[in-house]
Amino acid sequence: MPVVYKAEDLPALRQAAYPYLKKKRIRHVEGCEKVAVKLAAQYGADPDKAAVAAILHDITKALDLSNQLILCDRYGIICDDIEKNSPSLLHSKTGACKARELFDIEQTVFDAIWWHTTGRPDMSLLEKIIYLADYIEPTRDFDGIGKLRKTAWADLDSAMALGLRMSIDDIKQRGFALHPITTEAYEYYKEYLN
Ligand SMILES: [Fe+2]
Ligand SMILES: [Fe+2]
Repeated sequence: MPVVYKAEDLPALRQAAYPYLKKKRIRHVEGCEKVAVKLAAQYGADPDKAAVAAILHDITKALDLSNQLILCDRYGIICDDIEKNSPSLLHSKTGACKARELFDIEQTVFDAIWWHTTGRPDMSLLEKIIYLADYIEPTRDFDGIGKLRKTAWADLDSAMALGLRMSIDDIKQRGFALHPITTEAYEYYKEYLN
């Protein structure tokens, strides 16, 4: 049976998880946890599950492509051609598997980590919370973040639409790999755009 973490377990979980992060990412993960817990309170999700997913969501982010691919092999993650060349896309999937291996997380937490980079159509409440907390936590700074933050506190589905739209624009602008599921997610949520 997976572990159902409670608030009193979180300090030990942070202590066990942070050594996997690059130093500069710890503040991001701390910010992500705080925002995720607040969003959970606002939208009626379990704050402890939100905290666990946030604490662990970037646990393999420090690994380069070859080490990401080693983990894919170890965990039996099937990668498509886009993922095979993108450590950024792979870290959410390897992170979910690594978090399960190390900390025996629940499936809902696993899924929130798994989908936190690309999004997907029809996301669970916790998946949306982690996607957005990752995007708007206090250390983030980019054009349009004010509007995205405001929207996240007003309506989660509108915020998904806006966040996915902004992410797609940013990925295209930088010439990064855009995974088709992100486009599918945007198509699903765009009706909520204000
Ligand atoms: Fe991430
Ligand atoms: Fe992150």
